[in-house]
Amino acid sequence: MIMNRLSTISYIRDMEKRGKKLELENRFLSHFSSTPTCFQAPGRINLIGEHTDYNGGFVMPAGIDLSCCIAIALKTEGPSHMVAEDFSESFEFSGKPQKQKNGHWANYVFGVMECFASRSIQIPPFDLLIQSDIPIGAGLSSSAALESVVAVAFNQLLHCDFSSMELTRIAKQAENEYVGLQCGIMDMFASIHSKQDHAMLLDCRSLDFKYVPLELGNKLILLIDTCIKHELSTSAYNDRRKECQQAVELFKKLGGPIQDLRDVNLETLIDSQAHFNPVIFARAKHVISENARVHAFADALAKGDWTAVKSNLLASHESLKTDYEVSCEELDFIVDFIRDLPGVWGCRMMGGGFGGCVISIVEEDQVDGIMNALAPVYQKRFGIIPKHYIAKTGDGACEL
Ligand code: GLA
Repeated sequence: MIMNRLSTISYIRDMEKRGKKLELENRFLSHFSSTPTCFQAPGRINLIGEHTDYNGGFVMPAGIDLSCCIAIALKTEGPSHMVAEDFSESFEFSGKPQKQKNGHWANYVFGVMECFASRSIQIPPFDLLIQSDIPIGAGLSSSAALESVVAVAFNQLLHCDFSSMELTRIAKQAENEYVGLQCGIMDMFASIHSKQDHAMLLDCRSLDFKYVPLELGNKLILLIDTCIKHELSTSAYNDRRKECQQAVELFKKLGGPIQDLRDVNLETLIDSQAHFNPVIFARAKHVISENARVHAFADALAKGDWTAVKSNLLASHESLKTDYEVSCEELDFIVDFIRDLPGVWGCRMMGGGFGGCVISIVEEDQVDGIMNALAPVYQKRFGIIPKHYIAKTGDGACEL
């Protein structure tokens, strides 16, 4: 039988999933004796819309083909066992788990358990194997992927029937309330809802979204990893949230019936400039202008207007660097170095900032040239060889 292109692609995807599942089951059986169910959830990129999610604004993320996979079997009794293959670590607990030190992988699972408990669903003992190929610390949301995949697995195995939006809220709540990072909803949303070959245009206030086809032709998404995560990232993230809240309060005092910064346009902000201290003004300016750039970028992408795609990405970086002050020397160096190289259709820092990756849209046949030119100068300047990944889009959390 001759298969058409689409059925060939879906056949290959099925085979890949089956291969992953078999490998996970085998690894699970090397630790445990029961038969597991396997799930996966992807990491994410964000094309544009940075630091807008917790401001009720717009973002444009996509799931990638790197994912966090788990194999899990519920039990009727005994302690729970968890194995994190990537760290060669395991963990055992009975009853209510004890929170571990900051950053410990077990906390992401415990956080999700607690969120189910707060919805009156107690998680029985289980055996769990975790295996992820999402690089940690690169800003690709490896922790949101773990929270998302665990939430989706508990939902299915315990027949909870939570909607995908409720599972997104559970994964976010686990991060906010248990792990303690005040992130917005973008990462978990992307990990649960993404669709191969698409990005998503998400309204973070109403949670309305639409899939946007990612038709890049001869271009691809190149991520360049600074291989740096500055200490400042968590405290500065929380500070920015507070500063945005101060801007909202000030607008409310000035008489505007506003809920989030997204209810204000740039002209109104500029008209009110005299009432603002310069830092709060600059923070609000980033958020308001970034929301507008998300829409301009989405239009440009739909029309294939690559010049406008590029100018929006570069403007986003400039705004994050100058007005929001969440970039760093390493990110700026990469953006400045590659922005005018042949075949580069825009680049900017991605995610929370202070390290992680630069996202860029680049012609396929220029990737090696770009990296060969960048790597030695970056190494000379910072003593580190930058890594890079070609980001392919992937589907959201599912059973394998
Ligand atoms: C981090 C957070 C997200 C989002 C981005 C910035 O990735 O987890 O919620 O705020 O930073 O856009």
